[in-house]
Amino acid sequence: MKPTHSFIAGFTLAAFAGALWVSRPLVAAEPSAAAHAAVGASNDGTLFTAFVPVLRHPRCMNCHSKGDFPRQGDDGHRHTMNVRRGPDGHGVTAEKCSTCHQDHNLAGAHLPPGAPQWGLPPANMPMSWQGLTDALLCASIKDPKQNKGRNLDQLVEHLTEDKLVGWGWNPGEGRTPVPIPHDEFSAKVKQWQAAGAPCPAR
Ligand code: HEC
Ligand code: HEC
Repeated sequence: MKPTHSFIAGFTLAAFAGALWVSRPLVAAEPSAAAHAAVGASNDGTLFTAFVPVLRHPRCMNCHSKGDFPRQGDDGHRHTMNVRRGPDGHGVTAEKCSTCHQDHNLAGAHLPPGAPQWGLPPANMPMSWQGLTDALLCASIKDPKQNKGRNLDQLVEHLTEDKLVGWGWNPGEGRTPVPIPHDEFSAKVKQWQAAGAPCPAR
């Protein structure tokens, strides 16, 4: 019964190849939290890229961009009314951010959003992430010379508990919140921390 044999062998091979073909893209498309945990300190930077969409969102980038002014909207246009950074990040001369921004959002479309310490990073340490690759952004937020002397624990605390950062999840009427739920974001940041905060390759 030679023909049957080779038919079965051929079929088995085809089925096996098919299974491989199907399983590959699935694994590549959706690396689960469990998969990450299993590989542990996979120094490939995926633990960082898992939460970087939050940092790159306009709710964060509008204060973490280049230039001596904040930005507004999902298109990151320059802040209206010629608002500028000023040396300490809170504006120039008498026109401070706090003239309009309070420690909470004002209700109503196009009214000033707010959170405690509303302002830009200072001019001498602007914490600008605009134009950085994932590798450089990762290195920048970890660098005490660029992050106001924070060590890793303090950086993680800032990312997961700071009120200004937290505003990104509650940005006020008419503004899109950052894309990952807060508890999920915090878990991903802590997973990255636990693995030694690896950055993507340059
Ligand atoms: C004269 C009033 C005024 C001053 C002063 C002011 N802002 Fe604003 N700001 C606003 C208003 C109003 C909005 C909301 C605009 C809208 O939603 O269309 C806004 C929006 C913003 C946004 C946009 C949020 C987003 O993601 O869309 C940022 C960031 C911001 N301001 C930062 C600052 C900073 C930093 C300062 C000080 C350096 C400052 N503003 C000073 C009135 C002001
Ligand atoms: C209204 C402006 C504003 C917004 C919006 C904002 N930040 Fe910041 N951010 C600041 C200021 C000011 C500092 C410096 C505060 C300090 O050092 O004490 C800072 C510092 C940081 C730092 C530490 C410095 C560094 O580069 O490592 C991180 C991390 C950070 N912000 C993350 C975020 C994330 C994530 C979001 C969005 C969810 C965000 N920020 C939104 C103003 C802002």
